[in-house]
Amino acid sequence: MNKAQSPSGTVCTGKKLFWLLMLAILSVSLAARGYARGGNSDEDEESTESQVTDFRTFVEIPDKPRKILQEDMLDHLAALNEINRYLADNNLASAADVAESGMGRSLLSKYQNEGMRPGRYMPKEMREIGYELHAAASQFAKVARQGNLQETLHAYHRITSACVACHYSYRTR
Ligand code: HEC
Repeated sequence: MNKAQSPSGTVCTGKKLFWLLMLAILSVSLAARGYARGGNSDEDEESTESQVTDFRTFVEIPDKPRKILQEDMLDHLAALNEINRYLADNNLASAADVAESGMGRSLLSKYQNEGMRPGRYMPKEMREIGYELHAAASQFAKVARQGNLQETLHAYHRITSACVACHYSYRTR
């Protein structure tokens, strides 16, 4: 009896902790928002901005390659969206194709002109996250073609982890 209860008891505590954590995160972000909306004059906005600490590293990229980066990013977002739909349809082969053409290694050869490559202006660690994204996408394509949905979802998480890692660490504006 006790034995049967203890695993579910553990799960329950785990769940409770999870929800407590979610609640804490939610209330902090709601508080921050409420604070940001507190006043609506320009002055208020400026002072709010200076009080919110941004820990991301600023990376200066010239306008043209930065625009190219932005376009790439929108493509990535659209690719993820398309992949989501194929995953929901359990159409792993199509999901693989999108990952490969949308953000796989093949993308790296897209820019002929060295000076226009955004990666050139990134610090080494940032560029490595970029490589990781392309590697994750290629790996995703490979795993998806093997047909196991759960493994494919794990590979998908590796892709989105690269998006998160870069965005949480760097800003260009
Ligand atoms: C190596 C770093 C890096 C990785 C990896 C990365 N991004 Fe970005 N992303 C950036 C930077 C830097 C910007 C800001 C560009 C700018 O100056 O506007 C950006 C901007 C964006 C934008 C906003 C574009 C706009 O319209 O201004 C979107 C959307 C985006 N990224 C999506 C993604 C997605 C989805 C992924 C993963 C599939 C991803 N990014 C992976 C660095 C990265």
